[in-house]
Amino acid sequence: MTSQTMTATTMTPPTDQGTWVLGDLTVNRIGFGAMRLTQNGAAFEAGAAPSDRGRAMSVLRRAVELGVNHIDTAAFYFSPLRSANELINQALAPYPDDLVITTKVGPSRDASGAWRPHATPEQLRGQVEENLRQLGRDHLDVVNLRIVGTDSIAERFGALARLRDAGLIRHLGLSNVRPEHLAEAQAIAPVVCVQNLYGLGVRPDQDEFVRVCGEQGVAFVPFYAIAGAGREAGASGADGEAVLAVARAHGASAAQVRLAWTLHRGPHVLAIPGTGNPDHVEENVAAGALRLSEDELAVLNAFHQGGV
Ligand SMILES: NC(=O)c1ccc[n+]([C@@H]2O[C@H](COP(=O)([O-])OP(=O)(O)OC[C@H]3O[C@@H](n4cnc5c(N)ncnc54)[C@H](OP(=O)(O)O)[C@@H]3O)[C@@H](O)[C@H]2O)c1
Repeated sequence: MTSQTMTATTMTPPTDQGTWVLGDLTVNRIGFGAMRLTQNGAAFEAGAAPSDRGRAMSVLRRAVELGVNHIDTAAFYFSPLRSANELINQALAPYPDDLVITTKVGPSRDASGAWRPHATPEQLRGQVEENLRQLGRDHLDVVNLRIVGTDSIAERFGALARLRDAGLIRHLGLSNVRPEHLAEAQAIAPVVCVQNLYGLGVRPDQDEFVRVCGEQGVAFVPFYAIAGAGREAGASGADGEAVLAVARAHGASAAQVRLAWTLHRGPHVLAIPGTGNPDHVEENVAAGALRLSEDELAVLNAFHQGGV
């Protein structure tokens, strides 16, 4: 990161990034992903060094100070000594009225951190309740059903729809899904967001799904928009010349260009960059004010189609 990198304090306020309404909850388009808060290094790594609690809490508080009001989390985001949900609770409760916390259910890990089989429809209630306990809430704002594979999601999504009817969940979303899953779920209950792997040069095959979500008023929330192919390991720092050239032109970082590009995919695209670094949270919020020209978008779109 250079000293010229845009920071939140030197750039236009975060409201410039625009807002989106998830069901009836208005969020700023740059949010925050909590997966990086609990450990140093790769996510979910066995034996990972737990993060510093104070630093993780200061990242969360700074994000909210800067206008972030959409935080993505999960009960399965934990390291031996830190839980993302509990850090959010400790850092931010009593929660600001406008804060929207999105969590996801389906996957889970046992106490040692090993992955368990995905939840059955009957097990989803327990996962929702686990999130409620850890976050200290009586209802969850948005719950994404996170799946793997191509099987029908009707039973699992139906189970969550019943928890929504019971008042434990306000809005439902989906994660790691295909267009047919979205259609299947929408026949059961409204879907406010789709959270899938997507970014500049990453999964260009998702472009059409991103467009379809926009047409239907469903938020598209990409994960790994910065990390890209680095996935759990994080950002590699190896960015193509197309990205670096645009970054230089704006005095921005490659990460900021990646975030800005995702926001330029449509007003329904919401960013949830993850970081455990207080400087990075400032830069990520500031990226909401980065305006890319038509020429820059053409170059970046060509790069996107070519893959990483
Ligand atoms: N639904 C799903 O299946 C799924 C899967 C994965 C993730 N997620 C969610 O999506 C969120 C986003 O994914 P992610 O956490 O991998 O975030 P990301 O934004 O794609 O990338 C995070 C990586 O980029 C680095 N980084 C962040 N800001 C940076 C900046 N300004 N400059 C340079 N490097 C920067 C981080 O390292 P530092 O910590 O050093 O900044 C980390 O290595 C997660 O936090 C989680 O909430 C969902």
